[in-house]
Amino acid sequence: MRDYTTNQKITGPVLLTAPSWDDYELIDAGSGQKLERFGRYRLVRPEPQAIWAPSLPLDIWNRADAQFKRTRHDDSPGEWVRNQPLPEQWLLHYDNLRLWVRLTPFRHTGIFPEHTAHWEWMQRQLSAGARQSSVLVLFGYTGLTTLFAAQLGARVCHVDASRPAVRWAQANQEASDLLERPIRWIIDDVMKFVRREIRRGSRYDMIVMDPPVFGRGPKGEIWRLGEALPELLTLCTSILSQQPVGVLVNAYATNFSSIALYNTLAAVMHPYAGNVSAGELALYDTTAQRLLPTALYARWSST
Ligand SMILES: C[S@@+](CC[C@H](N)C(=O)[O-])C[C@H]1O[C@@H](n2cnc3c(N)ncnc32)[C@H](O)[C@@H]1O
Repeated sequence: MRDYTTNQKITGPVLLTAPSWDDYELIDAGSGQKLERFGRYRLVRPEPQAIWAPSLPLDIWNRADAQFKRTRHDDSPGEWVRNQPLPEQWLLHYDNLRLWVRLTPFRHTGIFPEHTAHWEWMQRQLSAGARQSSVLVLFGYTGLTTLFAAQLGARVCHVDASRPAVRWAQANQEASDLLERPIRWIIDDVMKFVRREIRRGSRYDMIVMDPPVFGRGPKGEIWRLGEALPELLTLCTSILSQQPVGVLVNAYATNFSSIALYNTLAAVMHPYAGNVSAGELALYDTTAQRLLPTALYARWSST
Protein backbone atom coordinates (compact mmCIF):
# COMPACT_ATOMS: atom_id res chain seq x y z
CA MET A 1 0.00 0.00 0.00
CA ARG A 2 1.18 3.51 -0.72
CA ASP A 3 2.15 5.52 2.32
CA TYR A 4 0.48 8.87 1.79
CA THR A 5 2.05 10.38 4.88
CA THR A 6 5.50 10.19 3.32
CA ASN A 7 4.54 10.98 -0.25
CA GLN A 8 6.33 14.26 -0.94
CA LYS A 9 4.01 15.13 -3.79
CA ILE A 10 0.97 15.57 -1.57
CA THR A 11 0.76 18.76 0.47
CA GLY A 12 -1.78 19.26 3.23
CA PRO A 13 -4.48 21.94 3.13
CA VAL A 14 -3.13 25.49 3.21
CA LEU A 15 -4.88 28.34 4.98
CA LEU A 16 -5.07 31.65 3.10
CA THR A 17 -6.22 34.85 4.79
CA ALA A 18 -7.31 38.00 3.00
CA PRO A 19 -4.85 40.88 3.36
CA SER A 20 -6.04 43.80 5.49
CA TRP A 21 -8.19 46.29 3.63
CA ASP A 22 -8.94 49.83 4.87
CA ASP A 23 -12.49 49.80 3.49
CA TYR A 24 -13.47 46.37 4.78
CA GLU A 25 -13.23 44.84 8.25
CA LEU A 26 -14.61 41.77 9.95
CA ILE A 27 -15.35 43.28 13.35
CA ASP A 28 -16.79 40.26 15.14
CA ALA A 29 -18.47 36.92 14.52
CA GLY A 30 -20.51 34.53 16.65
CA SER A 31 -23.95 33.10 17.38
CA GLY A 32 -24.44 32.40 13.67
CA GLN A 33 -23.79 35.98 12.55
CA LYS A 34 -20.98 38.29 11.50
CA LEU A 35 -20.51 42.01 12.05
CA GLU A 36 -18.63 43.67 9.20
CA ARG A 37 -17.72 47.15 8.07
CA PHE A 38 -18.08 48.00 4.38
CA GLY A 39 -16.62 51.50 4.09
CA ARG A 40 -18.31 53.56 6.78
CA TYR A 41 -21.30 51.27 7.27
CA ARG A 42 -21.53 48.35 9.67
CA LEU A 43 -23.63 45.37 8.62
CA VAL A 44 -24.81 42.23 10.41
CA ARG A 45 -25.31 39.14 8.25
CA PRO A 46 -25.96 35.43 8.92
CA GLU A 47 -22.80 33.31 9.15
CA PRO A 48 -23.47 29.58 9.71
CA GLN A 49 -19.80 28.83 10.46
CA ALA A 50 -19.70 31.19 13.44
CA ILE A 51 -21.07 28.79 16.04
CA TRP A 52 -18.97 30.24 18.89
CA ALA A 53 -19.89 33.16 21.17
CA PRO A 54 -19.27 36.67 19.79
CA SER A 55 -16.63 38.71 21.56
CA LEU A 56 -18.40 42.10 21.52
CA PRO A 57 -21.47 42.93 23.64
CA LEU A 58 -24.91 42.80 22.05
CA ASP A 59 -25.44 46.57 22.19
CA ILE A 60 -22.51 47.07 19.79
CA TRP A 61 -24.06 44.56 17.37
CA ASN A 62 -27.42 46.29 17.76
CA ARG A 63 -25.88 49.60 16.73
CA ALA A 64 -24.96 48.27 13.27
CA ASP A 65 -26.33 50.35 10.39
CA ALA A 66 -28.27 47.42 8.91
CA GLN A 67 -29.00 43.83 9.76
CA PHE A 68 -30.06 41.05 7.40
CA LYS A 69 -33.01 39.05 8.70
CA ARG A 70 -33.85 35.69 7.21
CA THR A 71 -37.46 35.04 6.39
CA ARG A 72 -37.13 31.24 6.25
CA HIS A 73 -34.11 28.98 5.62
CA ASP A 74 -30.52 29.64 4.52
CA ASP A 75 -31.06 30.18 0.82
CA SER A 76 -34.35 32.02 0.85
CA PRO A 77 -34.46 35.78 0.39
CA GLY A 78 -34.69 37.88 3.50
CA GLU A 79 -34.76 41.54 4.29
CA TRP A 80 -32.37 44.21 5.45
CA VAL A 81 -33.53 46.05 8.54
CA ARG A 82 -31.93 49.49 8.49
CA ASN A 83 -31.23 51.28 11.75
CA GLN A 84 -30.68 54.49 9.82
CA PRO A 85 -31.20 55.55 6.20
CA LEU A 86 -28.44 54.06 4.02
CA PRO A 87 -27.56 55.03 0.45
CA GLU A 88 -28.83 52.64 -2.20
CA GLN A 89 -25.20 51.92 -3.06
CA TRP A 90 -21.80 53.16 -1.99
CA LEU A 91 -18.21 52.74 -3.19
CA LEU A 92 -15.38 50.79 -1.59
CA HIS A 93 -11.78 51.42 -2.56
CA TYR A 94 -9.25 48.62 -2.95
CA ASP A 95 -6.01 50.15 -4.25
CA ASN A 96 -7.09 51.52 -7.63
CA LEU A 97 -10.32 49.53 -7.79
CA ARG A 98 -13.67 51.14 -6.95
CA LEU A 99 -16.42 48.68 -6.11
CA TRP A 100 -20.10 49.32 -5.53
CA VAL A 101 -21.69 47.82 -2.42
CA ARG A 102 -25.44 47.15 -2.37
CA LEU A 103 -27.63 45.25 0.05
CA THR A 104 -29.20 42.38 -1.87
CA PRO A 105 -32.20 40.21 -0.88
CA PHE A 106 -29.91 37.16 -0.55
CA ARG A 107 -27.69 38.87 2.09
CA HIS A 108 -24.81 39.43 -0.35
CA THR A 109 -23.23 42.84 -0.87
CA GLY A 110 -21.56 42.35 -4.26
CA ILE A 111 -18.21 41.81 -2.54
CA PHE A 112 -16.63 38.61 -1.27
CA PRO A 113 -13.68 40.21 0.54
CA GLU A 114 -11.90 36.87 1.06
CA HIS A 115 -11.29 36.60 -2.72
CA THR A 116 -8.47 39.10 -2.30
CA ALA A 117 -6.52 36.26 -0.62
CA HIS A 118 -5.95 34.87 -4.16
CA TRP A 119 -4.79 38.10 -5.72
CA GLU A 120 -1.13 37.85 -4.75
CA TRP A 121 -1.04 34.42 -6.40
CA MET A 122 -2.84 35.76 -9.50
CA GLN A 123 -0.35 38.59 -9.79
CA ARG A 124 2.61 36.25 -9.39
CA GLN A 125 1.32 33.75 -11.96
CA LEU A 126 0.30 36.39 -14.49
CA SER A 127 3.67 38.11 -14.29
CA ALA A 128 5.34 34.75 -15.09
CA GLY A 129 4.03 34.95 -18.70
CA ALA A 130 6.15 36.85 -21.21
CA ARG A 131 3.26 38.33 -23.24
CA GLN A 132 -0.12 39.82 -22.36
CA SER A 133 -2.01 37.07 -20.56
CA SER A 134 -5.58 36.05 -21.28
CA VAL A 135 -7.75 35.20 -18.31
CA LEU A 136 -11.16 33.50 -18.21
CA VAL A 137 -13.30 34.24 -15.15
CA LEU A 138 -16.26 31.87 -14.78
CA PHE A 139 -19.20 32.61 -12.44
CA GLY A 140 -17.69 36.10 -12.35
CA TYR A 141 -20.53 37.82 -10.40
CA THR A 142 -19.79 41.54 -9.84
CA GLY A 143 -16.37 41.42 -11.42
CA LEU A 144 -13.82 41.89 -8.63
CA THR A 145 -11.47 39.21 -9.92
CA THR A 146 -12.07 40.28 -13.51
CA LEU A 147 -11.18 43.89 -12.75
CA PHE A 148 -8.16 42.90 -10.70
CA ALA A 149 -6.83 40.83 -13.63
CA ALA A 150 -7.63 43.64 -16.10
CA GLN A 151 -5.84 46.13 -13.91
CA LEU A 152 -2.76 43.89 -14.04
CA GLY A 153 -2.83 44.20 -17.83
CA ALA A 154 -4.51 40.91 -18.77
CA ARG A 155 -7.18 40.45 -21.46
CA VAL A 156 -10.16 39.12 -19.56
CA CYS A 157 -13.33 37.24 -20.46
CA HIS A 158 -15.97 37.38 -17.72
CA VAL A 159 -18.88 34.91 -17.80
CA ASP A 160 -21.96 34.96 -15.62
CA ALA A 161 -25.58 33.91 -16.04
CA SER A 162 -27.00 37.01 -14.40
CA ARG A 163 -27.52 40.19 -16.42
CA PRO A 164 -27.85 42.34 -13.26
CA ALA A 165 -24.55 40.91 -11.93
CA VAL A 166 -22.78 41.72 -15.21
CA ARG A 167 -24.27 45.24 -15.21
CA TRP A 168 -22.99 45.67 -11.67
CA ALA A 169 -19.53 44.44 -12.77
CA GLN A 170 -19.57 46.97 -15.63
CA ALA A 171 -20.49 49.73 -13.18
CA ASN A 172 -17.48 48.66 -11.11
CA GLN A 173 -15.34 48.80 -14.27
CA GLU A 174 -16.49 52.35 -14.94
CA ALA A 175 -16.03 53.44 -11.32
CA SER A 176 -12.51 51.95 -11.38
CA ASP A 177 -11.65 53.89 -14.54
CA LEU A 178 -10.91 50.66 -16.43
CA LEU A 179 -13.25 51.19 -19.39
CA GLU A 180 -10.32 51.09 -21.81
CA ARG A 181 -9.18 47.66 -20.64
CA PRO A 182 -9.92 44.62 -22.85
CA ILE A 183 -12.76 42.86 -21.02
CA ARG A 184 -15.39 40.70 -22.77
CA TRP A 185 -18.62 40.57 -20.77
CA ILE A 186 -20.59 37.40 -21.48
CA ILE A 187 -24.05 36.50 -20.16
CA ASP A 188 -24.24 32.75 -20.65
CA ASP A 189 -24.34 29.36 -19.01
CA VAL A 190 -20.77 28.47 -18.05
CA MET A 191 -20.88 24.92 -19.48
CA LYS A 192 -22.37 26.07 -22.78
CA PHE A 193 -19.88 28.91 -23.05
CA VAL A 194 -16.84 26.71 -22.42
CA ARG A 195 -18.06 24.16 -25.00
CA ARG A 196 -18.50 27.00 -27.50
CA GLU A 197 -14.99 28.27 -26.75
CA ILE A 198 -13.61 24.78 -27.47
CA ARG A 199 -15.33 24.80 -30.89
CA ARG A 200 -13.97 28.30 -31.59
CA GLY A 201 -10.44 27.27 -30.59
CA SER A 202 -10.14 29.97 -27.92
CA ARG A 203 -7.24 29.74 -25.48
CA TYR A 204 -6.62 31.15 -21.99
CA ASP A 205 -3.48 31.35 -19.86
CA MET A 206 -5.41 31.40 -16.61
CA ILE A 207 -8.89 30.19 -15.66
CA VAL A 208 -10.50 31.29 -12.41
CA MET A 209 -13.92 30.10 -11.24
CA ASP A 210 -16.15 30.73 -8.26
CA PRO A 211 -18.99 28.25 -8.73
CA PRO A 212 -21.96 28.16 -6.38
CA VAL A 213 -23.14 24.81 -5.01
CA PHE A 214 -26.30 25.22 -7.07
CA GLY A 215 -27.01 27.73 -9.82
CA ARG A 216 -28.88 28.34 -13.04
CA GLY A 217 -27.77 29.54 -16.44
CA PRO A 218 -29.75 32.29 -18.24
CA LYS A 219 -32.09 29.72 -19.79
CA GLY A 220 -32.58 27.79 -16.58
CA GLU A 221 -29.63 25.40 -17.19
CA ILE A 222 -28.94 23.64 -13.90
CA TRP A 223 -25.50 23.84 -12.30
CA ARG A 224 -24.67 21.45 -9.45
CA LEU A 225 -21.12 21.68 -8.17
CA GLY A 226 -20.77 18.05 -7.08
CA GLU A 227 -21.94 16.68 -10.43
CA ALA A 228 -20.64 19.23 -12.89
CA LEU A 229 -17.27 20.40 -11.55
CA PRO A 230 -15.13 17.48 -12.83
CA GLU A 231 -16.65 17.86 -16.31
CA LEU A 232 -16.22 21.64 -16.33
CA LEU A 233 -12.57 21.35 -15.29
CA THR A 234 -11.95 18.70 -17.94
CA LEU A 235 -13.53 20.95 -20.60
CA CYS A 236 -11.38 23.84 -19.36
CA THR A 237 -8.18 21.94 -20.14
CA SER A 238 -9.18 22.09 -23.82
CA ILE A 239 -9.08 25.88 -23.77
CA LEU A 240 -5.81 26.28 -21.88
CA SER A 241 -3.04 27.94 -23.87
CA GLN A 242 0.28 26.31 -24.75
CA GLN A 243 1.81 27.82 -21.64
CA PRO A 244 -0.93 28.17 -19.03
CA VAL A 245 -0.04 29.78 -15.73
CA GLY A 246 -2.92 28.90 -13.40
CA VAL A 247 -6.33 27.34 -12.74
CA LEU A 248 -8.25 28.29 -9.62
CA VAL A 249 -11.48 26.89 -8.18
CA ASN A 250 -13.08 28.64 -5.24
CA ALA A 251 -16.13 27.13 -3.54
CA TYR A 252 -18.50 28.01 -0.72
CA ALA A 253 -20.91 26.17 1.52
CA THR A 254 -20.22 22.72 0.19
CA ASN A 255 -20.10 19.47 2.09
CA PHE A 256 -16.82 18.73 0.35
CA SER A 257 -13.43 18.96 1.92
CA SER A 258 -10.69 20.98 0.23
CA ILE A 259 -9.03 17.60 -0.30
CA ALA A 260 -11.93 16.66 -2.59
CA LEU A 261 -11.32 19.84 -4.60
CA TYR A 262 -7.60 19.05 -4.64
CA ASN A 263 -8.19 15.53 -5.93
CA THR A 264 -10.61 16.75 -8.61
CA LEU A 265 -8.27 19.45 -9.91
CA ALA A 266 -5.14 17.30 -9.59
CA ALA A 267 -6.76 14.49 -11.61
CA VAL A 268 -7.61 16.90 -14.43
CA MET A 269 -4.26 18.74 -14.40
CA HIS A 270 -2.26 15.52 -14.14
CA PRO A 271 -0.72 15.82 -17.67
CA TYR A 272 0.61 19.31 -16.89
CA ALA A 273 3.84 20.07 -15.03
CA GLY A 274 3.42 22.39 -12.06
CA ASN A 275 1.66 21.83 -8.80
CA VAL A 276 -1.76 21.78 -7.18
CA SER A 277 -2.48 23.17 -3.75
CA ALA A 278 -5.73 23.41 -1.84
CA GLY A 279 -7.10 24.63 1.43
CA GLU A 280 -9.36 27.15 3.09
CA LEU A 281 -9.89 30.89 2.84
CA ALA A 282 -10.47 32.82 6.04
CA LEU A 283 -11.14 36.35 7.16
CA TYR A 284 -9.34 37.82 10.15
CA ASP A 285 -11.63 39.00 12.94
CA THR A 286 -9.97 42.21 14.12
CA THR A 287 -11.56 42.24 17.59
CA ALA A 288 -11.20 38.66 18.79
CA GLN A 289 -8.10 38.14 16.62
CA ARG A 290 -9.32 34.81 15.34
CA LEU A 291 -10.18 33.50 11.91
CA LEU A 292 -13.58 33.06 10.30
CA PRO A 293 -13.51 30.27 7.67
CA THR A 294 -15.25 31.36 4.50
CA ALA A 295 -14.48 29.18 1.47
CA LEU A 296 -12.47 26.31 0.06
CA TYR A 297 -10.13 26.46 -2.88
CA ALA A 298 -7.84 24.40 -5.06
CA ARG A 299 -5.42 25.87 -7.54
CA TRP A 300 -2.95 24.63 -10.07
CA SER A 301 0.15 26.73 -10.70
CA SER A 302 2.61 26.34 -13.54
CA THR A 303 5.48 27.32 -11.25
C1 LIG B 1 -22.35 34.84 -6.34
S1 LIG B 1 -21.20 34.01 -7.32
C2 LIG B 1 -20.33 33.01 -6.34
C3 LIG B 1 -20.75 33.07 -4.96
C4 LIG B 1 -20.26 32.04 -4.07
N1 LIG B 1 -19.42 31.09 -4.76
C5 LIG B 1 -21.45 31.39 -3.41
O1 LIG B 1 -21.75 30.24 -3.70
O2 LIG B 1 -22.07 32.07 -2.57
C6 LIG B 1 -22.12 32.84 -8.19
C7 LIG B 1 -22.38 33.39 -9.56
O3 LIG B 1 -22.56 32.30 -10.42
C8 LIG B 1 -23.52 32.66 -11.38
N2 LIG B 1 -24.05 31.42 -11.94
C9 LIG B 1 -24.76 30.46 -11.33
N3 LIG B 1 -25.02 29.44 -12.18
C10 LIG B 1 -24.46 29.77 -13.36
C11 LIG B 1 -24.36 29.13 -14.62
N4 LIG B 1 -24.92 27.94 -14.85
N5 LIG B 1 -23.67 29.75 -15.60
C12 LIG B 1 -23.11 30.96 -15.39
N6 LIG B 1 -23.14 31.61 -14.21
C13 LIG B 1 -23.82 31.03 -13.21
C14 LIG B 1 -24.52 33.49 -10.62
O4 LIG B 1 -25.22 34.36 -11.49
C15 LIG B 1 -23.62 34.24 -9.64
O5 LIG B 1 -23.27 35.53 -10.10
